[in-house]
Amino acid sequence: MKSCFDFNKPVERRGTDSVKWDLADDDVIPMWVADMDFESPREVQEAIMDRVKHGVYGYTIELDSLFEAVTKWVSRRHNWTIEREWIVFTPGVMPGILGILQAITRPGDKVILQSPVYTPFFRAVRNSGCHVLNNQLKYENNRYTMNLPDLEEKAKDPRTRALILCNPHNPVGRVWTREELSTVGKICLENDVVMISDEIHSDLIYKEYKHIPLASICDEFAENSITCIAPSKTFNLAGLNTAFLVIPDSRVRREFQNMSLPKRATIFGGIAAEAAYTYGDNWLDALLDYLDDNRRLLAGYLKARTPQIKVVEPEGTYLVWLDCRQLGMDNDGLEKFMLEKAGIWVNQGYSFGSGGDGFIRMNIGCPRPILEKALGRLNAAVNSL
Ligand SMILES: Cc1ncc(COP(=O)(O)O)c(C=O)c1O
Repeated sequence: MKSCFDFNKPVERRGTDSVKWDLADDDVIPMWVADMDFESPREVQEAIMDRVKHGVYGYTIELDSLFEAVTKWVSRRHNWTIEREWIVFTPGVMPGILGILQAITRPGDKVILQSPVYTPFFRAVRNSGCHVLNNQLKYENNRYTMNLPDLEEKAKDPRTRALILCNPHNPVGRVWTREELSTVGKICLENDVVMISDEIHSDLIYKEYKHIPLASICDEFAENSITCIAPSKTFNLAGLNTAFLVIPDSRVRREFQNMSLPKRATIFGGIAAEAAYTYGDNWLDALLDYLDDNRRLLAGYLKARTPQIKVVEPEGTYLVWLDCRQLGMDNDGLEKFMLEKAGIWVNQGYSFGSGGDGFIRMNIGCPRPILEKALGRLNAAVNSL
């Protein structure tokens, strides 16, 4: 059946103060920062417009209906039952992670990351006065896995206080399996390491895969974890600055709540989140089909025409990790090549920490004509070498 949502519809984003588009030169196609070039669901737009009409935008509280929309969404989409009181809103996942680190660590503690990974994690750890312990992912046969023996060794360090897990993993696109998560959870429990599970991309999973919320595996994992979720990636609402943390441990929750940090949804963020989580299922299902076609187009095109660049198959997210090492360029050379020769702005692999050299991250959350144009440019640039 043909989808009634038109993701091919071009949306002019230049001139809207868009980080993605307005920081890019006119002749460059921006495929970097993680937001999509699609309009949010109609119900979300209408809910915001209704509230705009009121004209008074003072301090606001989160309504019962918002909590209910969140808990029902998580239960419906991810089969995870969360209590209302576990939920704490924040203006973003990163402010939430920073706050949690400040609440649970002491200066000099160590926090495990799994590079290549979302760059701001490194800053958050350092800005909390902690040290990064890097449990680098393994890349074999075009696929990433965790180095679990190394994770265990790092977890055993008496100064290790937390792990920041990224699931689905940005940028390598893995959706960690129940088995992998169970092992991670067990290692962390045994070594008293708190798990901060960033699940911001968890609604964006391709059909062959299933997102397992780490905390849903058992009560012990739930009590030892903080889960970060948001409607921002799913429904393209990043500019509304609203995310939430699920903190089952009441002591950690109290510590977080006692910190002088913003702990609210924004007025329009709360309204948008409620509408999205209440009415957004069909839109999201159609989006996932569209992204799946983009993912297949990218993989098929590169394999047939530009085999020097290899796709690491994304299991979730619209961010695709591309292995460009066969082009034989150093980091500077690859960055210049993509921007100046191919005319596309992608994230450079090295910025995600060790293991990222020679890779790029491409955002395919865009109408297909944009993706096709970018692939044509990339192919021409590679063939001109
Ligand atoms: C894994 C991950 N965590 C956090 C964020 C940022 O979230 P927020 O804008 O809510 O701070 C992003 C954005 O790309 C992300 O990919």
